[in-house]
Amino acid sequence: MNQDELKRMVGEAALEYVQPDSIIGVGTGSTVNCFIEALISSRIRIEAAVSSSEATTRLLQAGGIEVVDLNHTGGLDIYIDGADEFDAHRRLIKGGGGALTREKIVAAASRTFVCIADASKQVDVLGAFPLPVEVIPLARSLVARKLVGLGGQPEWREGYVTDNGNWILDVHNLDLVDPVSMEKTINDLAGVVTCGLFAICLLYTSPSPRDQSLYLVCRLLLEKGGGGGGGGGGG
Ligand code: A5P
Repeated sequence: MNQDELKRMVGEAALEYVQPDSIIGVGTGSTVNCFIEALISSRIRIEAAVSSSEATTRLLQAGGIEVVDLNHTGGLDIYIDGADEFDAHRRLIKGGGGALTREKIVAAASRTFVCIADASKQVDVLGAFPLPVEVIPLARSLVARKLVGLGGQPEWREGYVTDNGNWILDVHNLDLVDPVSMEKTINDLAGVVTCGLFAICLLYTSPSPRDQSLYLVCRLLLEKGGGGGGGGGGG
């Protein structure tokens, strides 16, 4: 099975988490695009979606799904999004598509993050995929120097502007053995909007019963006591 087929499978598998008539958060990327296609073709009718990017908004609207502003919805039950990398503890690198900041915001507004990723994204230690960091343009060089100080090799994604009007540094060769502390360190740098590590807030994970040698569908409970049950630790 090739990767496109895996993405389609994982996109369809996420449908089981979608409640009819609910408002869901929707991420960005080619795997999410497969989920959106599957949702549009399914019989499930949702009330609306909160989108993590202009690209996702266009796809949703083209499929007749209303897109609403997060400021008008309050908290969401689920957020569905892909990942560029995940480890055994379901810690993620995201942002290959540049939408990391809105993705982190919509994820933070959601009680559970249904992460959909094919098995090729799994790694022992995060970091083979360069870590995207969204920066305020004025701070690009300053942040790049700080990232070098942290042991990384930042590369400016030249010509690319995020939906928020900012720039991206893709950081190679960072030591991400402790992604929780690195997420906090990078996010604390002046001029950083956010980095693509999603490591801090994942409290409990419950892997899909489906065949994980093919793909991952994983509920990441973001909010303590927010439902889903179970103890701590990764699966
Ligand atoms: C978008 O900014 C990213 O976070 C994507 O969610 C992630 O890159 C996965 O994308 P693919 O599904 O295209 O691999």
